[in-house]
Amino acid sequence: MIGGPVYRFLDERFRLTPLLEKNLTRKLVPRTLGWAACLGGLSLVMFLIQVFTGFLLLMYYQPNPLRAWDSVMFIKSNVAMGWIIQRIHGVGANLMIVLVLMHMARIAYHKIYRKPREFHWVSGVLLFATTTFMAFTGYLLPWTQLSYWGAKVGTEIPGAVPVIGEAIVHWVRRGPTIGPDTLGFFFSLHIWILPACMSGLMGLHFAMIRRTGISKPL
Ligand code: HEM
Repeated sequence: MIGGPVYRFLDERFRLTPLLEKNLTRKLVPRTLGWAACLGGLSLVMFLIQVFTGFLLLMYYQPNPLRAWDSVMFIKSNVAMGWIIQRIHGVGANLMIVLVLMHMARIAYHKIYRKPREFHWVSGVLLFATTTFMAFTGYLLPWTQLSYWGAKVGTEIPGAVPVIGEAIVHWVRRGPTIGPDTLGFFFSLHIWILPACMSGLMGLHFAMIRRTGISKPL
């Protein structure tokens, strides 16, 4: 691809080579970076896989308590490759959480959260929170017994907050109990509000990492 006629055509017009050399092919990183430095990048790869498989599932999924379960069964049994796309999305959600936790553990172990990277850490904590919210909201979507009771227990947690706890529970559920409005709300959080927040946070996370450079191993 690079060096081919299409690349040369674009390079003559947009001067791509200096840009690529600066950012990719000649970017300097510490020589002794170990495999653990890949964990942030792998979390990003998982996010992209989840977005891609999520788009495919969206073509058939119906966010309605009467149709949600049937539409997931339809994807799994009738749609070509549907079962594997659905499985990748489900396993991918768990894998992404594990990878983000491992990335976080590496940062904590090497104390990389210290000056000048305090805000990398803060944006990272927000990314971890949004990743878990993505998993939690997605879990309700198939509308199974497990997902119903999972959402019921999960949404009860803010009820422990003094004074305003009950109001928060009511707000999250869009009513007194888990029902069609909860499903609609979780669906919109899962397919666009949370991914949009995550994309913004990741942009910030990466921009800050580019400014400070990656930390040198101890
Ligand atoms: C969706 C979640 C996340 C993605 C996609 C992501 C991505 C990345 C990438 C690609 C890097 C550079 C390579 C590396 O050091 O691994 C990085 C670095 C960093 N991340 Fe994350 N990250 C995420 C979550 C977090 C979390 C949860 C924390 C901590 C609470 C965190 C804190 C940091 C810090 C402090 C660095 C700088 C590392 C250094 O300079 O060596 N990130 N992140």
